[in-house]
Amino acid sequence: MEINAFLAEKSRRTDEALYKIFDEWQGAPPRLIEAMKYSLFAGGKRFRPALVLGAADLVAGDDTCAIPAACAIEMIHTYSLIHDDLPAMDNDDFRRGKPSCHRAFGEALAILAGDTLVTMAFAVLTRTENLTVIREIAEAAGVCGMAAGQVMDLEAEHQKPSLSRLQSIHAHKTGALIRASVRVGAILAQANPQQLDALTQFGEHLGLAFQITDDILDVVGTPEKLGKPVGGDATKEKATYPSLVGLAESRRLAREAVESAIATLSPFGERADTFRALAHYLLSREN
Ligand code: IPE
Ligand code: IPE
Ligand code: MG
Ligand code: MG
Ligand code: MG
Repeated sequence: MEINAFLAEKSRRTDEALYKIFDEWQGAPPRLIEAMKYSLFAGGKRFRPALVLGAADLVAGDDTCAIPAACAIEMIHTYSLIHDDLPAMDNDDFRRGKPSCHRAFGEALAILAGDTLVTMAFAVLTRTENLTVIREIAEAAGVCGMAAGQVMDLEAEHQKPSLSRLQSIHAHKTGALIRASVRVGAILAQANPQQLDALTQFGEHLGLAFQITDDILDVVGTPEKLGKPVGGDATKEKATYPSLVGLAESRRLAREAVESAIATLSPFGERADTFRALAHYLLSREN
């Protein structure tokens, strides 16, 4: 399947399920729900749900079992974006083509919308009735995963960390949730240990490629296409691949990570062509 068609199909089915989840949630303050929906349905790529569902497809030929996990991971990802944009963190005014959540609703509501997206995500995850999956996502989002990476990212501002330190920041702040997305889809589809191992490695390389390209787009992208500001990393003196090794070397390392990701897929043969295309797409993405 053509990669944009694949992404569009996974995105549509995730959104359908997300709307249903909100329809079932009654009695919450309308303004809180409004703030959550504002960010959640602002037009993200749904890259992580595509990984969850794509991994389930790859292993079992059907992704229905993975829909709640795809929704939960997108909710957690959206929380991370809302908080990432706050003045105390990256202080960014635009996200997903609109004023960021705190610009539209104020800081207090943005913080609470983020908090609520996480707790709601774990309520949704109980539908999987799979404690391994719930734990996997808690760890990937939390103290040894994304949250840890966000702390490392802030601590590395105005610093020039080593390349291996930077790789570790990226593996935590972005890689952990991407790795978990692939793993959780595979686990829910009853992957065998060899399949899970291969897909875990795929997710790790893909996560690195994803954040290197995010860093590159902050230098060469346009706010219109990205839906978020550009140039902020340099202004904030963030530790990024372009700031550490330059644009050309960053591109080479992104390509290398994509090639490593693709190499892990050989046990799946042709059935993994969609994931191969998804990895390639990272090198040409414009948002
Ligand atoms: C942006 O993620 C934040 C990172 C972890 C790099 P995405 O590029 O997936 O953002 P959306 O979901 O499409 O808005
Ligand atoms: C964010 O990295 C990673 C998250 C966990 C949200 P960035 O700070 O580079 O993401 P953008 O560029 O603001 O989307
Ligand atoms: Mg950040
Ligand atoms: Mg940011
Ligand atoms: Mg960025």
